[in-house]
Amino acid sequence: MRQQIVAGNWKMNKTLDEGIELTKSILETVEKPRGLVVIAPPFTHLRDVGKMIKVRKHFHLAAQNCHHEQKGAYTGEVSADMIASCGAEFVIIGHSERRQYFKEKNDVLAQKVNVALAKGLRPIFCCGEPLHIREVDTHVGYVAKQLKASLFHLHEEDFRKVVIAYEPIWAIGTGRTASSDQAQEMHHAIRVLVAKKYGKIVANDTTILYGGSCNAQNASELFAQPDVDGGLIGGASLKAEDFATIIAALK
Ligand code: 13P
Repeated sequence: MRQQIVAGNWKMNKTLDEGIELTKSILETVEKPRGLVVIAPPFTHLRDVGKMIKVRKHFHLAAQNCHHEQKGAYTGEVSADMIASCGAEFVIIGHSERRQYFKEKNDVLAQKVNVALAKGLRPIFCCGEPLHIREVDTHVGYVAKQLKASLFHLHEEDFRKVVIAYEPIWAIGTGRTASSDQAQEMHHAIRVLVAKKYGKIVANDTTILYGGSCNAQNASELFAQPDVDGGLIGGASLKAEDFATIIAALK
């Protein structure tokens, strides 16, 4: 089912105590959200943050990544099973920072998607183009390739559990947001691609979030677009007031 979601990706920020403090402030500041609120703290905070939010309706826990194998000798890595056992229901997969700094390619991301789904987690699958691709106007094709390579092998039943997050790389952490027209154009294009693969009903049911310098000021305009179902928020999710304003901007 298509859902309205605001997800906060804390990235590598906040100590455990700071994370607990932030969660407390978020829970105090956010009143009845119109959609789902997903919080993605670092692995080390999952259990504590999870316990705090689980008592609140509409709040859900996510991890920021998982390993592509189920288990084994992968020192320093964290499996989908471990994440699920800490209470997470979602896992972010394919964030551009993982692609860029950790060289995660489409095929490994497909494996991550598979292992997450096998362990009962819902992937929040990130896609998005770098600036040079946007400048030569091939962004739709670029994103199509990412989706085809890492998601479109799924059967419909599994695909329906996936949330897609469109995050143009040039907008992440830069303060340069995609305009609402640019976001709508790409979200619509993604929905058309999903329709071609899985049919119109599935496409209409797919949740597609926007990420990239989404903040308290621009969230309502972005979320007002017909194909934008909420946001994946980085920097602005670290301030309870801003995060609450963004959540309040859901349709
Ligand atoms: P910013 O909101 O800080 O641009 O980050 C977006 C993002 O990468 C969320 O995953």
